[in-house]
Amino acid sequence: MSVLIKGGRVVTASDSFVGDVLVQGERIAAVGEVGETAAETVIDASGKLVLPGAVDPHTHLDMPFGGTTTIDDVTSGHEAAAFGGTTCHVDFCIQGQGQTFADALATWHGKRAGKALIDMGYHIAVTDLSEAERLEELATLPEQGITSYKLFMAYKGALMVDDETLFRTMQVAAETGALVMVHAENGDAIDVLVKEAIAAGHTEPVWHARTRPPETEGEATNRAIQLARVAGCPLYVVHVSCRESVEPIAVAREKGWDVWGETCTQYFFVDESFLERPDFEGAKFVYTPPPRAKANQDVLWDAVRTDVLSAVSTDHCAFLWDGQKTMGRDDFSRIPNGGPGLENRLHMIHHFGVGEGRITLNRMVELLCTNPAKLFGLYPRKGTIAPGADADIVIFDPDKPKTITADGQHSKTDYNLYEGTEVKGDVETVIVRGTVVVQDGELRVEPGFGQFVERARFGEELQRSPAPA
Ligand code: URP
Ligand code: ZN
Ligand code: ZN
Repeated sequence: MSVLIKGGRVVTASDSFVGDVLVQGERIAAVGEVGETAAETVIDASGKLVLPGAVDPHTHLDMPFGGTTTIDDVTSGHEAAAFGGTTCHVDFCIQGQGQTFADALATWHGKRAGKALIDMGYHIAVTDLSEAERLEELATLPEQGITSYKLFMAYKGALMVDDETLFRTMQVAAETGALVMVHAENGDAIDVLVKEAIAAGHTEPVWHARTRPPETEGEATNRAIQLARVAGCPLYVVHVSCRESVEPIAVAREKGWDVWGETCTQYFFVDESFLERPDFEGAKFVYTPPPRAKANQDVLWDAVRTDVLSAVSTDHCAFLWDGQKTMGRDDFSRIPNGGPGLENRLHMIHHFGVGEGRITLNRMVELLCTNPAKLFGLYPRKGTIAPGADADIVIFDPDKPKTITADGQHSKTDYNLYEGTEVKGDVETVIVRGTVVVQDGELRVEPGFGQFVERARFGEELQRSPAPA
């Protein structure tokens, strides 16, 4: 199968030029002046952007959490992703208490089997190292392409780990070349604040933000950075939401330490006032860290522009408002934490980031595609448009108007964080490993098409797939 994408503006993290992209089989064969090559499918991309498929390094599909399970399974999550121009993501496989990593991975591979529409990998979320052999098992995971270890420093009584578990994991990562990821919030302090708020009769959604002040994120971010220095491992701080955690990351990066940070689309657009919406609508915006004071939004735009933060993910962790979020109608601490976003990252960052002059098109590609691929061992197979790379390509019409609504989305949830937002720019065609996955508003592949990707260790390149015969 060959595809010739003709005359679009090809944009990578470093280049932008009008040219052609030739796909042969699953890979990109040529980029630039391809000439009069015969191809089975020819796509006229004139006036369109030809982008690398976006890579989302932070999602939660089919995950038990907060007394329920996220509403998007692998298939519906992938449909949302594909229609939003995301062609590969890395989801979290959560170790249960007392569970081996092998068992946890078997469960998560079972959730994926026969259901994937795009490519994906797993981070392992470490929750319990109390059995001696677990550390040894952790050290073997990079051999299976699981090259990132995630730790939650919050969610006391559920996913939260103590500093010993965090530090021991960091030591293993320093040995094995895995990247350590942290959800950085001080879970002990937050637990006290939540209990005090409930005891005082404060039950509304806005108390989710009031009991998780930004200092608790800043403290945990700094703690993780300092511990990673002692252990000698690389560190990636997920869903950075506020100045208090941007600052320690900026200092660490200024010093040249192996510290990286991501923020998520929603932190640029949703502020804490959304939590005060009446009739329990505020619950839609209960995710963690919480929406912050609006002033943080400019801090985050500055941070992504200056490479203090290096990636924008979605932290897609979708629940229904009606039936799941409403579990916390009488107690904000029972509202499942998480929000949807997989489908609209590119729309929102293209319109408000590039369109409003906050970042360049190249930087958008770097934040959404290239850097996530590089940091998580997917590059150069994923995250760029270059000969030999997987043909994961998005043809994006930068002028097409789109109104973002829950009604028009592919996620199974019943609301959208950006409901009613009008953007310029929409995804037209999505190609994964040379196969058209989305075109003319239709899904073109069956569940099972997407593949599991064994990722390279931090700082190493992922070998390309074998050349077609
Ligand atoms: O509220 C969120 N972010 N839910 C997903 C789990 C996490 O902390 O990333
Ligand atoms: Zn988190
Ligand atoms: Zn998350």
